[in-house]
Amino acid sequence: MRTPVEGFSKLTKEEKINWIATQYTSNPEVAKSVLKRYWNTNSYVQKVHDEFIENTISNYYLPFAIAPNFLINDTLYALPMAIEESSVVAAASKAAKFWLNKGGFKTTIVGTEKVGQVHFMYKGDKEKLERFFKTHKNAFFDDAKTITQSMEKRGGGISSVRLIDKTDSIENYYQLHCTFQTMDAMGANFINSCLEQFAKTLKQKAAVYDRFSSQEGSIEIVMSILSNYVPNCVVRAEVSCPLNNLDEAGLSGIDFAKKMVQAVNIAKIEPYRAVTHNKGIMNGIDAVVLATGNDFRAVEAGVHAYAAKDGRYSSLTHAVIENGEFRFWIELPLALGTVGGLTSLHPMVKLALEILQKPTAEELMQIVAVAGLAQNFAALRSLVTTGIQKGHMKMHLLNMLNQLGATEEEKERLVDYFKDTVVTNASVKEALKKIKAD
Ligand code: MEV
Repeated sequence: MRTPVEGFSKLTKEEKINWIATQYTSNPEVAKSVLKRYWNTNSYVQKVHDEFIENTISNYYLPFAIAPNFLINDTLYALPMAIEESSVVAAASKAAKFWLNKGGFKTTIVGTEKVGQVHFMYKGDKEKLERFFKTHKNAFFDDAKTITQSMEKRGGGISSVRLIDKTDSIENYYQLHCTFQTMDAMGANFINSCLEQFAKTLKQKAAVYDRFSSQEGSIEIVMSILSNYVPNCVVRAEVSCPLNNLDEAGLSGIDFAKKMVQAVNIAKIEPYRAVTHNKGIMNGIDAVVLATGNDFRAVEAGVHAYAAKDGRYSSLTHAVIENGEFRFWIELPLALGTVGGLTSLHPMVKLALEILQKPTAEELMQIVAVAGLAQNFAALRSLVTTGIQKGHMKMHLLNMLNQLGATEEEKERLVDYFKDTVVTNASVKEALKKIKAD
């Protein structure tokens, strides 16, 4: 019979491990040994990980891989990717190679504006609130000076603070809708600190504003928080080439391009397809976002909201055939940082950023967008020609063989055998059985 635990966070790591292993696993000794096997042998590195979060008992690691040969704005990059899905890095590398001698990827930053809001309740005359806001608008900037000083030195800061009336949707509900430039930082801490100061200023100034009644002067702050929806923090990445450079898997350039355009157009109008289409894009995006220590949940939330910005969930990529050329591009919001957060703490993140030549946040946005576009190109290219399973199952073969307990020699022989044989669960089992019986 399990009982709730008191003061778990205060137990030592060893005690936490003992507790979880004995309370929740059927073989505590095996559980303990698995957890300890994933400890880092370097005590400094382990301590850094222990302190990222509460109640750390071990590490959970993902493969860290390189997708080379990405030509982005005429500079060659090797992309670090952290991901468990077997075919993603191979697909990215293939797409990079495909575009390498066709001019590579071209990117542009459309905007870098971040957003945060103070949500509050005001009971009273709307015009009085508007007048109050006008009178005290500068105070929001002035009172936040100690927070914004160093960001301003780097060229960023608060861009705007607006009062928004939301009483159409919820009675008495207003917002301060605020925009920021956070330079090379993702900016979550900076934005949230500014917003909490705005909330204080709002409450204090309202309490002593002589035109407000006592009810109007007692503004109720509900919450102050950044928004992960950043439709003006957007990057665009594109590839293009003449149709006659596009021959693919027995298809002529024009036929291949037409199929690619059809595939994208389907994802534009059909949400069931769009979700999978964009999921494939996020395979590339998340892998680089994770490798560079950025918040992939924030990116995911913002990107999917953007994909639905026109009222229907749709494709993040676009494709056209124009003047004898195939053009394929992506436009998406990415709030990323290359300073602060994990960037100087996590040794692998530091290395990933070094591999990317220490990019600015804007450069990282462009690299990440390219990873998404490349991934989508690779997925669609397989889908409209050979089908996805051929490449996917080939990459999955080693996972299956490991699961079936194949030896190194058996794996080598079977990888060779499946070079020109269809990989399925049954065919792999059968082939392994045969080899073992030899
Ligand atoms: C699998 O992780 C991603 C794909 O399903 C993406 C797509 O269908 O475009 C292959």
